[in-house]
Amino acid sequence: MKKKIKHLLKQRKAIMLAHNYQPPEIQDLADLCGDSLELSIKASETDAEVIVFCGVHFMAETASILSPDKTVLLPRQDAGCPMADMITPDGLKEKIGQLSLMPVVTYVNSPASVKAMSTICCTSANAVAVVNSLDAKEIMMVPDRNLSHYAALQTGRRIHIWNGYCPVHDRLTVTDVQNVKHEHPEALFMAHPECRPEVLELADAVLSTSGMLRFPGKSKNRSFIVGTETGLLYSLKKTNPDVDFYPASEKMVCPDMKRITLDDVARSLEFMEGEVRVEEHTRRPALKAVKRMLDLS
Ligand code: 13P
Ligand code: SF4
Repeated sequence: MKKKIKHLLKQRKAIMLAHNYQPPEIQDLADLCGDSLELSIKASETDAEVIVFCGVHFMAETASILSPDKTVLLPRQDAGCPMADMITPDGLKEKIGQLSLMPVVTYVNSPASVKAMSTICCTSANAVAVVNSLDAKEIMMVPDRNLSHYAALQTGRRIHIWNGYCPVHDRLTVTDVQNVKHEHPEALFMAHPECRPEVLELADAVLSTSGMLRFPGKSKNRSFIVGTETGLLYSLKKTNPDVDFYPASEKMVCPDMKRITLDDVARSLEFMEGEVRVEEHTRRPALKAVKRMLDLS
């Protein structure tokens, strides 16, 4: 199957991008494995004709927003993101109507139609820098309440928070973390900013998934508790073979990130199945918000 996929990738002049949470066999085959920011940058720079995106729907949409001349394939159409589904353009319009005029910062984990209504996008890697880049006293940030709360704390800005969340990260409790800390008192705790505020208070470092991959290389510590989706442990161990990693909770599994199989990738490439395309009237305003973020990064 791996040989077949490699052959199809060549034949289609395609690049295979995979998020850090993807299953090991997908990560191993990908041309680039990364966090949302790195994958967006790669999607905007590649000269491949086809991008086969192993991640979830909003990521493939972002690739299509950035590269409308390329065919973007999502090998499983049912790979969505529950947090992205917690906001709609109508809901945002209503909220904007209730408040005075202010910039809207939209986490990339959102539908293209919501990005199209936004001032600027952000990812978990650059949310604080994005908020700091805005010259406004009040900001609206959607859809992740935990990331927004974290950005407000870090920047001291007044942020109006949308009540969305990632069910995988929001599930992690203080007790879960304390239990693992008790078992491994020497380990540093790395947490993703999608975790709850009280969990982030316990963290030694708050990082995106790729930030977590780099952090052990910058630290003298040789053991870490990992507060994000457990798929990251595979690449953490691969990148840092002499370091010990412990999941903050075994419950942190994103079923959407686990849907794509090698069979799906092969079928998608063979029959050009699962194309994701954003309509021009949505793509153009969404591109402005995504580009503004990329220019900052
Ligand atoms: P990253 O920005 O670290 O890639 O995280 C994306 C995501 O979906 C986290 O749940
Ligand atoms: Fe969405 Fe959370 Fe899964 Fe990331 S881990 S894709 S935010 S549900």
